Amino acid sequence: MSTTFQLETSTSRANPTPAPMKRLTVPRIRDRKKDGETQEAIVMLTAYTARMAQLLDRHCDLLLVGDSLGQVIYGLSSTVPVTLDMMANHAAAVVRGSYHAVVAVDMPFGSYEASPEQAFENAAYLMKQSGAAAVKLEGGAAMADTVAFLVQRGIPVMGHVGLTPQAVNVLGGYGARGRSDAEAEKIVEDAIALDRAGAFAIVVEGVVEPIAIEVTRSVSAPTIGIGASASCDGQVLVTEDMLGMFERVPRFVKKYENLAETIEKTVESYAGEVRARSFPGPDQTYQPK
Ligand code: KIV
Repeated sequence: MSTTFQLETSTSRANPTPAPMKRLTVPRIRDRKKDGETQEAIVMLTAYTARMAQLLDRHCDLLLVGDSLGQVIYGLSSTVPVTLDMMANHAAAVVRGSYHAVVAVDMPFGSYEASPEQAFENAAYLMKQSGAAAVKLEGGAAMADTVAFLVQRGIPVMGHVGLTPQAVNVLGGYGARGRSDAEAEKIVEDAIALDRAGAFAIVVEGVVEPIAIEVTRSVSAPTIGIGASASCDGQVLVTEDMLGMFERVPRFVKKYENLAETIEKTVESYAGEVRARSFPGPDQTYQPK
């Protein structure tokens, strides 16, 4: 694992990264919300590779190296099997491909729940290996002591409440949360506990809209919605979902493009030319001088 956090453009296929500039910082993201109001909504997208990070970077405030990479990149059936080293490697690539957005990395299932000490050790490992500036972990009140422990020791933490995909085996699926009064109350309590513990932002995923609005009103940290509400202080989507790489996506995803179709058509053209022996053509072949 490389601990070089800069893109080596002389050997990389990636476009040169623009001249180094000052990255956004966690305190600047946190301070977007003042007295309960966020003038400029926070833009977050997931990124797992250096090239995607380059393409997203200048449009985003935060790049999240989400453990959704388990499904999106590795074809796993859930995020549960994702490992610390998978996260560290992809986070390092995203840091190398970006210069502007804050890079936050998901702590995978099993890497933080046992104790605050376990969480510190693994969060520090992720940050040292990748150069990411913050971690995200799932869970509410049960994780508050851990969040406080990390923040007090120099690790910025983003919380994640509502639908928490790592808990799929307890929740029994990926349906929207907060439909019963008890569940709604618990989600708000969870967010308040994370806020008090010092989380700099809180992802609110897959909840009925009134709960997302109540959570946003109840916490001082910015909320970042996904399947939540336009009233959240920011939004996040899985980039491949919004680019249209998958046919089946959650209902809350808006497909801004249909990249899967574009890729299929492009590959069809390539395959046709290879079979017709029209590729490579004169422009793609070397001739003796
Ligand atoms: O893993 C992930 O990509 C996430 C976002 C969807 C919030 O947690």
